[in-house]
Amino acid sequence: MAPSDLFLLLLLATAAPLTTGQGFDYPTANLSTLWTNSNAALSHSVTYSDGTVLRAIVLRSPKTFYGPSFAAGFFCASSPCNAFLFAVFIVYTNSGARITNPTNGIPQVVWSANRVRPVKENATLELGVDGNLVLRDADSSLVWSSGSKGRSVAGMAITELGNLVLFDQKNATVWQSFDHPTDALVPGQSMLEGMRLTANTSATNWTQNQLYMTVLPNGLYAYVESTPPQLYFSLSGNKNKTANDPTKVTFTNGSLSIFVQSTLPYPSTITLPAAKSTQYMRFESDGHLRLYEWSDAESKWAVVYNVIKMFPDDCAFPTVCGEYGICTGGQCICPSQSNSSLRYFTPVDERKANLGCGPLTPISCQEMQYHDLLTLTDVSYFDASHTFVNARNRDDCKQACLKNCSCRAVIFRYGNNDSDGDCLWITKVFSLQSIQPEIVHYNSSAYLKVQLSHSPPASTPTANKNKIILGATLAGIGTILLVIIAATLYVRRRRKYQEIDEEFDFDQLSGMPTRFSYEKLRECTEDFSKKLGEGGFGSVFEGKLDEERVAVKRLESARQGKKEFLAEVETIGSIEHINLVRLVGFCAEKSHRLLVYEYMPRGSLDRWIYYRHNNAPLDWGTRCRIILDIAKGLCYLHEECRRKIAHLDIKPQNILLDENFNAKLADFGLSKLIDRDQSKVMTVMRGTPGYLAPEWLTSQITEKVDIYSFGVVMMEVISGRKSIDNSQPEESVQLINLLREKAQTNKLIDMIDKQSDEMVSRQEEVIQMIKLAMWCLQNDSNRRPTMSTVAKVLEGAMTVETCIDYSFFNADPVLSVQGSQSTYSAPPPASVLSGPR
Ligand SMILES: *[C@@H]1O[C@H](CO)[C@@H](O)[C@H](O)[C@H]1NC(C)=O
Ligand SMILES: *[C@@H]1O[C@H](CO)[C@@H](O)[C@H](O)[C@H]1NC(C)=O
Ligand SMILES: *[C@@H]1O[C@H](CO)[C@@H](O)[C@H](O)[C@H]1NC(C)=O
Ligand SMILES: *[C@@H]1O[C@H](CO)[C@@H](O)[C@H](O)[C@H]1NC(C)=O
Repeated sequence: MAPSDLFLLLLLATAAPLTTGQGFDYPTANLSTLWTNSNAALSHSVTYSDGTVLRAIVLRSPKTFYGPSFAAGFFCASSPCNAFLFAVFIVYTNSGARITNPTNGIPQVVWSANRVRPVKENATLELGVDGNLVLRDADSSLVWSSGSKGRSVAGMAITELGNLVLFDQKNATVWQSFDHPTDALVPGQSMLEGMRLTANTSATNWTQNQLYMTVLPNGLYAYVESTPPQLYFSLSGNKNKTANDPTKVTFTNGSLSIFVQSTLPYPSTITLPAAKSTQYMRFESDGHLRLYEWSDAESKWAVVYNVIKMFPDDCAFPTVCGEYGICTGGQCICPSQSNSSLRYFTPVDERKANLGCGPLTPISCQEMQYHDLLTLTDVSYFDASHTFVNARNRDDCKQACLKNCSCRAVIFRYGNNDSDGDCLWITKVFSLQSIQPEIVHYNSSAYLKVQLSHSPPASTPTANKNKIILGATLAGIGTILLVIIAATLYVRRRRKYQEIDEEFDFDQLSGMPTRFSYEKLRECTEDFSKKLGEGGFGSVFEGKLDEERVAVKRLESARQGKKEFLAEVETIGSIEHINLVRLVGFCAEKSHRLLVYEYMPRGSLDRWIYYRHNNAPLDWGTRCRIILDIAKGLCYLHEECRRKIAHLDIKPQNILLDENFNAKLADFGLSKLIDRDQSKVMTVMRGTPGYLAPEWLTSQITEKVDIYSFGVVMMEVISGRKSIDNSQPEESVQLINLLREKAQTNKLIDMIDKQSDEMVSRQEEVIQMIKLAMWCLQNDSNRRPTMSTVAKVLEGAMTVETCIDYSFFNADPVLSVQGSQSTYSAPPPASVLSGPR
């Protein structure tokens, strides 16, 4: 920092009495300077039309003749003005460094000193000879100090970026506001490991609320405060810096980048709209991080970007509906029992549903015998931290919660067709989200602790009673209305489909697989008598068309209209590759929806790698071939076919084997077509626990989720066990956690399937394969290789990048979605084909 640079454009309005009437000084470093918070003492005082008052102490001239600039001084946003902050703010000035007319843009506070304790008129700020910058209230009580006492401070300045700096005689920084961020970031500012942004309670209430965002060694994390804190967003980073630098998150024009310690040359970056004028970012009371930009045309600050994208929508923010509120399609409601008139929760404010709900009877730890759990079905919770309890099933999960008073709720999440699941433990209940299980592929129930009032409440005040009755009546009317609307929509939809059924012209669809009549398929499967298996969407039967054996899948709950179904069939039918199961034909007749696939005699991969059928271990060569086949199939879907397709549910149950153990991918039903020019697509959660990539929870979904799942499958093939295996000792239930531990302790050899002597003897090759799997399992999707790279490595045309630092793969707490001690176990359905939606 060159002194001339700092001072030339710097203004220090000195203590009263004011020496100059000019707006612009070239101050020397003034120690023992005292500034008093009053209009008389500080010449750069402005009152804005909305009552905002600011009194600048140090101010930079704008770079242009007229424009935004940074200043530090006293700031008050309430009217009448009785609470000031000592703050750094963005303000509009002219070239004379005069703050311009109040109609142009209310100043925006980007840093403040001890915002929970605003000061009054006549408070003082003193830059003492002892090097300390001290803020005292009008009654002389200490409010804040820079803590630089005893350092040799020569002066105070505000830099071009908006950093308030105390510097010494050599212009070295002694203290700077950038080291103590509050709730905002300005371009050029970095947050280092350990720093936090904490949201204000609201724009005018500066008390800090319970949300914060912090930089941890492997990325950026956002939590809502409770014991323990509950994680709702995370983004792990990559490194582009020398070793030993702390992790850093930097906001620049066009991006927010996260640099952590590793060696891959890709920083994890959130792309932001390029700045057209001044920008800043604020972490706000609702948990959003918003990018603001000054609009010259409209003369105001406007939100130009929402930096945190939540999955699947804003309902996943922890405070969107307040405590205990349930967010359903953007509406907030209080939890209630569906088939009972009993009420346990009431809105905090009847007219503001988003403020949340409270229990009618507070939970009392003295009367635990009167605790009960209110069941809410199809409700999920945002928390992705490690707060799972070891409960095998729903009843254990509920019992665990009832036994411990600090538990306020548990969420139990099922997997596909599974009685076991995850039990999430909650000590403070923030917003819940309602989910549609057919869309997310799992169902999840919440059990909220309630206090039963064992003696009837002595006397409910009538006003309150009336309120309750009114509330109940309104809720009743609401329900009736909803039912009517739903019924109307349903009838309309039905009509629409019927019309489509009649009108749709099938002959126009070219390149379609053969269309069969229902009768024909019933015949060829001998009236659906030989069941091959059952998938998530229906049963699969063996059949014979002419002499060809086929697998006929009957979709059970086909809600799709014929048009959608045919569109899907056309897509699947147009994809042909040796490593993809071929769609032979289909049937769409009345409500029947069937798909006819080529028959795969050896069934699905899970039958061969988990030793459930006492089969001999597959030899190493076969395992390698299977892995290569899957890689080629996926590579085709991702990179070679007309439209990029993400499979989204790669798991052994969806990998089928022919007579010669050639592997083919099945079930594109979960795929989401991704246009090539729009490489990222947000979708609702799909897939299967145990194979889900971490970004399902936090960010946009790309075909890279398949690469993660592929990595999990590779590890299953190599180690001959399930991704989540509850028969293992607790610390090895999760294959990927075990892998991380073995990688860190340099014992990868332990991961090799002990049943195969051949593999143990060829351990070097196997370990190379494990390394490739770990590359695919990188937490950050950008760091995973593409499928074509994987195929090249497998074919020996490339080697696994040796410079990869594996220590971070999968170290993200977000992964606990699969349950750190989760008891989820998926007995893989014997399904041969689980078909499209
Ligand atoms: C990584 O750092 C190098 C120099 O150290 C720089 O040239 C390059 O642009 C950086 N890459 C990214 C993506 O920031
Ligand atoms: C931000 O970057 C874009 C191009 O990347 C540039 O056009 C724009 O002027 C920059 N804005 C600022 C305020 O520097
Ligand atoms: C209750 O759960 C908390 C964690 O939420 C734990 O610290 C505490 O030890 C538990 N108490 C009992 C009695 O198990
Ligand atoms: C979860 O979904 C399955 C299948 O849709 C259903 O059979 C089961 O009853 C559901 N469980 C709960 C608790 O809703």
